[in-house]
Amino acid sequence: MRVLGIETSCDETGIALVDTEGDSTPTLLAQALHSQVEMHADYGGVVPELASRDHIRRVLPLTREVLQSAGADLASIDVVAYTRGPGLAGALLVGAGVACALAAALGKPALGIHHLEGHLLSPFLSADPPTFPFVALLVSGGHTQLLEVTDVGAYALLGDTIDDAAGEAFDKSAKLLGLGYPGGPALARLAEFGDRTAYALPRPLLQRDSLDFSFAGLKTAVRTHALKLEGANCEQPRADLAASTQEAIVDVLVRKTMAALQRTSCSRLVVAGGVGANTVLRARLRSECEKRQARVYFPELALCTDNGAMIALAAAMRLQRGIAALSSDYAFDVLPRWPLTAEPLAARAA
Ligand code: KG4
Ligand code: ZN
Repeated sequence: MRVLGIETSCDETGIALVDTEGDSTPTLLAQALHSQVEMHADYGGVVPELASRDHIRRVLPLTREVLQSAGADLASIDVVAYTRGPGLAGALLVGAGVACALAAALGKPALGIHHLEGHLLSPFLSADPPTFPFVALLVSGGHTQLLEVTDVGAYALLGDTIDDAAGEAFDKSAKLLGLGYPGGPALARLAEFGDRTAYALPRPLLQRDSLDFSFAGLKTAVRTHALKLEGANCEQPRADLAASTQEAIVDVLVRKTMAALQRTSCSRLVVAGGVGANTVLRARLRSECEKRQARVYFPELALCTDNGAMIALAAAMRLQRGIAALSSDYAFDVLPRWPLTAEPLAARAA
């Protein structure tokens, strides 16, 4: 079965084609991606209206590119999957509209997929995929969650952020340090030259017996230090502040994740979402898991940030398990705010 995946939830247009045979792990036939980073950089962040318009421009040429590199044609597509939420409403509507129109024209079903489900299943496309059950650390621009995952669609929330997401903490701190958008990778690059112990930054909720996160206080502390550095020739202190900020975020993420493994007696960890590309976070999670005889699984680096492959994959894995509510009337909606553990996702999985 061939599934086309269309991702347009934020600032990346991602298209991919996956193939499934029986119940073996789906394989990626081809994928294409267009990042809008350059377009939004001038504005210091994503401009939703520009994002939607750019998705409109990219989605069909990228679909053609994917079909061509897979040596496939439109008629060979069995299901058209798209990101139904969460994300920017206008951006989501582009992918949903094109997916449903394409499915209708082909006489094939369409399937709306949860963006975060795509992220957390994305390591199944790597050479060394995980097996269920596992704990998932989902760290993206808008979400920071710990989940106990027993199967596709079976997600129990262990911890969530009560304010900013980890990616947001990276992005906002980077902005305060005068770094461009997207802030996460820029802050990580500057941090390479800094001393991570130079600034004592807050690590909220660490002492509590809770798996929830809070990063708003960190942002305030970074702002206070960053203001003191403004104007002067402060290259080294800026790098030190970047390194200390990254250290505070990574420290909290790693400690809470280890507590989640212990609480669930789980020995497998999956890390997904854009912040999962952070090399310091990866190294720290690896070494902490090694100490506990646990295994950590990451998506391929290229699949850490938004992409179409994870949407096609999540759709294919749902179809294999018979838990996909296929739409053949092509009426669609999008869910800009859609908790992974809430209806209608849970209802569909029932
Ligand atoms: O998953 P993603 O591509 O988009 C969302 O669904 O949000 O995640 C984007 C987030 C941004 O906050 C970005 O700054 C962060 O991931 N990010 C990183 C790195 N690469 C991307 N944060 C820290 N270090 C990185 N290397
Ligand atoms: Zn994402």
